[in-house]
Amino acid sequence: MKKLGLHEIRKEFLDFFKEKDHLVAPSYSLVPANDKSLLLINAGMAPLKPYFIGTETPPKDRMSTCQKCVRTGDIENVGVTSRHGTFFEMLGNFSFGDYFKEEAIAWAWEFMTERLDIPEDKLWVTVYKDDDEAYNIWKDNIKINKDRIVRLGKEDNFWGLEVGPCGPCSEIYIDRGEKYGCEKEDCLPGCDDCERYVEVWNLVFSQYDKDKEGNYSPLPKPNIDTGMGLERIATVLQGTENIFEIEPIKSILEEVESISGKEYKNNDKDDMSIRVITDHVRATTFLVSDGVIPSNEGRGYVLRRLIRRAARHGKLLGVKGHFLNKLSEKVIELWKEVYPEIEERKKQIKKVIKVEEEKFQETIDQGINILDEYIEDMKKNDSKVLSGVKAFKLYDTYGFPLDLTKEIIKEQQLDVNEEEFNNEMEKQRQRARRARQEGDNSAWNKDSILDIHINEKVEFRGYNTLEVNSKVLTIIKNDNKVDEIYEGDEGIVILDKTPFYGESGGQVGDTGTINNESFKGEVLDTKKTGNNIILHFIKVLEGSIKIGEKVNAIVNDNKRMAIARNHSATHLIHKALKEIVGEHVNQAGSLVLPDKLRFDFTHFEGLTKDEIKKVEKRVNDMILLGLKVETIETNIDEAKKIGATALFDEKYGDNVRVVKIGDYSKELCGGTHVPNSSNIGLFKIVSESGIASGVRRIEAITGGEVYKHMLNMEKQIENISDTLKSNKKDVVDKVKSLSDDNKKLQKDIEKLKSKLASSKLDDIIKEKYVVEGVNVISKKVDGIDVNGLRQLGDKLKDAMDSVLIVLGTQNGNKVNFVTMATKDLVTKGIHAGNIIREVAKITGGGGGGRPDMAQAGGKDPSKIEEALSKVDGLIKSQIK
Ligand code: ALA
Repeated sequence: MKKLGLHEIRKEFLDFFKEKDHLVAPSYSLVPANDKSLLLINAGMAPLKPYFIGTETPPKDRMSTCQKCVRTGDIENVGVTSRHGTFFEMLGNFSFGDYFKEEAIAWAWEFMTERLDIPEDKLWVTVYKDDDEAYNIWKDNIKINKDRIVRLGKEDNFWGLEVGPCGPCSEIYIDRGEKYGCEKEDCLPGCDDCERYVEVWNLVFSQYDKDKEGNYSPLPKPNIDTGMGLERIATVLQGTENIFEIEPIKSILEEVESISGKEYKNNDKDDMSIRVITDHVRATTFLVSDGVIPSNEGRGYVLRRLIRRAARHGKLLGVKGHFLNKLSEKVIELWKEVYPEIEERKKQIKKVIKVEEEKFQETIDQGINILDEYIEDMKKNDSKVLSGVKAFKLYDTYGFPLDLTKEIIKEQQLDVNEEEFNNEMEKQRQRARRARQEGDNSAWNKDSILDIHINEKVEFRGYNTLEVNSKVLTIIKNDNKVDEIYEGDEGIVILDKTPFYGESGGQVGDTGTINNESFKGEVLDTKKTGNNIILHFIKVLEGSIKIGEKVNAIVNDNKRMAIARNHSATHLIHKALKEIVGEHVNQAGSLVLPDKLRFDFTHFEGLTKDEIKKVEKRVNDMILLGLKVETIETNIDEAKKIGATALFDEKYGDNVRVVKIGDYSKELCGGTHVPNSSNIGLFKIVSESGIASGVRRIEAITGGEVYKHMLNMEKQIENISDTLKSNKKDVVDKVKSLSDDNKKLQKDIEKLKSKLASSKLDDIIKEKYVVEGVNVISKKVDGIDVNGLRQLGDKLKDAMDSVLIVLGTQNGNKVNFVTMATKDLVTKGIHAGNIIREVAKITGGGGGGRPDMAQAGGKDPSKIEEALSKVDGLIKSQIK
């Protein structure tokens, strides 16, 4: 058995099939081209499907590849065991109606025994239970001992993806020896209880095409599709226990050890984390290099889950900060010879991983703390299932993919209510959809009568011109069709062609004038019906207008330009947000007015000041670059091909219009735009806020409005500097020095206050008098609350060696008393609590307390003095 590395085996395999007259093609992208049935390429044959089913002609009817694959079906088991991986390479040879079973089997055997030198006595094969043809080829042509040919059922030996080419198959197994085996006597290939026999090569005799309903139809010609997991065969040849121990995967694992300072095989928990990271960073690097960007949907979400899961395991290993982008360098270094694209896209790969990891780092600690609290609560309440609402909160606010929450929860033997989670997700989608619809009055539907009565075709000319000679088709006044309207009337006019843009796609309608020699009308607003009929809401200023008349329709160009500026700016923000905040950002609604714009988008948290600045700057950079704005009329498929952004969930007709701003932004859009980004002038974000869970709103201004805004700001600064009697340029220093002065004055006031208080104290002490040899201070104090009263009492007591203090104050409609006595008086028989009880009674209250200190309340403030006058008598009675 040759002890070959991953790269050597790959080369050996492809060379072998080249010798057998195969066309060796480089790996296809992990992102399927034109295949909606698949999220990510998960088998060597997947990108070749059209050749198998005959919808496209292959460049050669024999091909061989080493295909990058990702399978994330059981992502939570990756790393838990050492057998699973998400990313792997699949070696394959394919025949499109050319050779069949005989050659496929013979070459597989030749490669295994002659090229890899695997001893025959280590090899076993399986065939589909009814496939005598394959059985006989193994037995008679290859001359394998028939005891080593196992017939298995559909479960094991019939291969296919969910839909597409499929058929019976024959698999080659390698016996790794008894030490990997189980005790069972009939332990054979296919045994589920041990890892003695590993399946390394699957030869599929691809004869059927399976459709979505599960029907199998025979393919025009039988094909061969084979697949051998590169990492798995390397594991066998290198005699290692699992894929994490073969070169070059082991080198990534060692890098993880060095980054984390943890040694592999020291502790099961750490080992698992090390494996998770080793696997996920490989998948991540290749996914990003094939253009996948983290998002909350589809393959973007697969990537997000991988990065976030790996990031969490980094944390478990005690790694500080982000590390995956650094680690991806190792992957690039180890695989770049084979996949030059990862070296070419190195910068992009590192950036995307870094941004995503950092974004998660910001919320991961908070998220983990919250999840820990949830877990604690569950344990306390003896509940086993985390509510989907809580799991959704973790997803929505802290960016925890459901799998991650599930994984953490499962570590505690708990579970998540996934159905509830999915409900929450659907509710959020609906909210986003509603928010979008509210912002986008794309069709005027106040009065559907219009749609019923009007069958005319109206031509919109306003993309290229602002003035059109047209004919009046229909006039409506008070919801009725009329022939003519007169000076002072308001009504709706429909023209055969018009430069007026009817409100739609979030953009408001145009205003302007409609005139001829005998008529002058002002267009107050323009709307569009569901049937694309453009309605001019007019007021007749002079003369009258009749059906059939020729008129000149002229759009208010200043206003139109202002609207266009804001509309083009929304496209730039959309793109800038995707770049700076993340690809998950999607337009959730927009409103384009002449004086401002509003852009709603999906994002799970508020933008930081820094993000807002960056977005604003990026948009202004694109304005200053003077990018040409072009429109392309095409079909939806072409538009998607050139990468135009379409609104999620939006339905588009066959013909669409793509608005391109340089190469920076491409969006499907029916609105009107500036001819060049520089016409926007300047762009300023004025606010950013949340409008629904997961939906944010930016309000911004452009062009002349920014200038006005600037003048306003300037005016304000002028006002401030005038008030402060300062130069504009010194105004900040002046404010600072004022604020410093203010602080100083505040301190001085505090000092004076405390001085004042102590002089007051002296005054009060002077009011001391003596009853039966007892020093007494009995006094009503104003403007003080019960705390102040107590503090005053304490101070007096501290200032005097021997004293009985009785203080009263009015607090609104209530009364408070405090009494204190020094120790010497207590020994003489003075009891503060008893004194105050009697005193408070006079004011309609009660209370009491210790001999040295007591508090009480009362109800009648007018009786405070009278109450205090009782003190002397009480002292006398206590002293006796
Ligand atoms: N397409 C077959 C597999 O993936 C070879 O196993």
